[in-house]
Amino acid sequence: MKVIVTGAAGFIGSAFTRLAVRKGAFNPVCIDALSYAGDLERLEQINEKITFHQADIADKTRLAEIFSAEKPQAIVHFAAETHVDRSILDPASFIRANVIGTENLLELALEHRIEKFIHISTDEVYGELSAGEEKFRETGCLLPNSPYSASKASADMFVRAFRKTYGLPVTTIRPSNNYGPWQYPEKLIPLVIAKALRGEKIPMYGKGENIRTWLFVEDCAEAVMSVLEAGRQGETYNIGSNEEKMNRDVISAILRLLGKGEELITFVADRPGHDFRYAVDTCKIEKETGWKPRVRFEEGIERTVQWYRQMSDWLFKKEAEAKAFTEQLRGRFEEMKTRKGFSSFS
Ligand SMILES: NC(=O)c1ccc[n+]([C@@H]2O[C@H](COP(=O)([O-])OP(=O)(O)OC[C@H]3O[C@@H](n4cnc5c(N)ncnc54)[C@H](O)[C@@H]3O)[C@@H](O)[C@H]2O)c1
Repeated sequence: MKVIVTGAAGFIGSAFTRLAVRKGAFNPVCIDALSYAGDLERLEQINEKITFHQADIADKTRLAEIFSAEKPQAIVHFAAETHVDRSILDPASFIRANVIGTENLLELALEHRIEKFIHISTDEVYGELSAGEEKFRETGCLLPNSPYSASKASADMFVRAFRKTYGLPVTTIRPSNNYGPWQYPEKLIPLVIAKALRGEKIPMYGKGENIRTWLFVEDCAEAVMSVLEAGRQGETYNIGSNEEKMNRDVISAILRLLGKGEELITFVADRPGHDFRYAVDTCKIEKETGWKPRVRFEEGIERTVQWYRQMSDWLFKKEAEAKAFTEQLRGRFEEMKTRKGFSSFS
């Protein structure tokens, strides 16, 4: 089977592609724009076993050429703009990649009579939970709160509409927060590791009490594979673990593993619209595909910290790139605020 994997040079897409090659599951045809978040180093070990096309999924003409040349049977769609903070500074780029890009893929999937279209969404589309509230189920309402989650929810709606309107064989997956090797250091865990390794202050949003459910990236890749193999068309599957953690506990665990003290933590103003808690009910995927997360947080975070220690050159290089890029975005955003007299967001 020939499977197109979009976003294959990203954090989760590359873990999934490496898994597919390791299992000999199919021939991955990888598509990635190689944006700031994409890195071919993540695929280096399996270079010979994959086909790679550098392409922007928002460019339909380019995508159409790839589909005609490759004639894929299935698509696993990871490619997206993924960082919430960036979506606050530049929402339009999220609409372009996440909504227009997804719609382009859906149209081409239809045209080429694709047998399976696996769309990777996020638990963030459900909005936020309070402390004691029941976990999100697949039937829950979509109440996105950030431009990122709004763009992902919009993509989910198009995926659903292509199923209902044209009968496209789609399946949607909503994973919770992933962590593990190769994550880009603008996200919490690698960013904290980078700063702690250098003994620098670690910014913590608000009081650090926001809760996320942490899923080791290899478990996520296995879950996506289980849905590709055994998931039902037209269905949605949550993926997650039962490892609900406050951000400050995650940071403390990293500091402990690196032998650093809590005095490195410095509290900063909360992110605007910061969701308090995400937690997903995963009974459906477990019952239907037999998948279960294998890596407990304690083990996963230790493996992750160890990996970044060994890959500190990559970590620091990427962190510097991320910082420069965010500063550029922030500069453009400040300029726009001044121009438009927009002052509600500090
Ligand atoms: N990381 C998480 O914790 C998490 C949790 C839930 C869902 N997700 C979803 O999983 C998917 C993968 O996330 P990730 O963490 O690996 O993201 P990532 O940012 O590490 O990787 C995204 C990849 O997509 C590529 N890309 C971006 N825009 C593109 C475009 N227009 N055309 C082609 N390629 C493009 C990038 O170059 C990059 O390689 C995303 O859809 C994300 O919304 C991630």
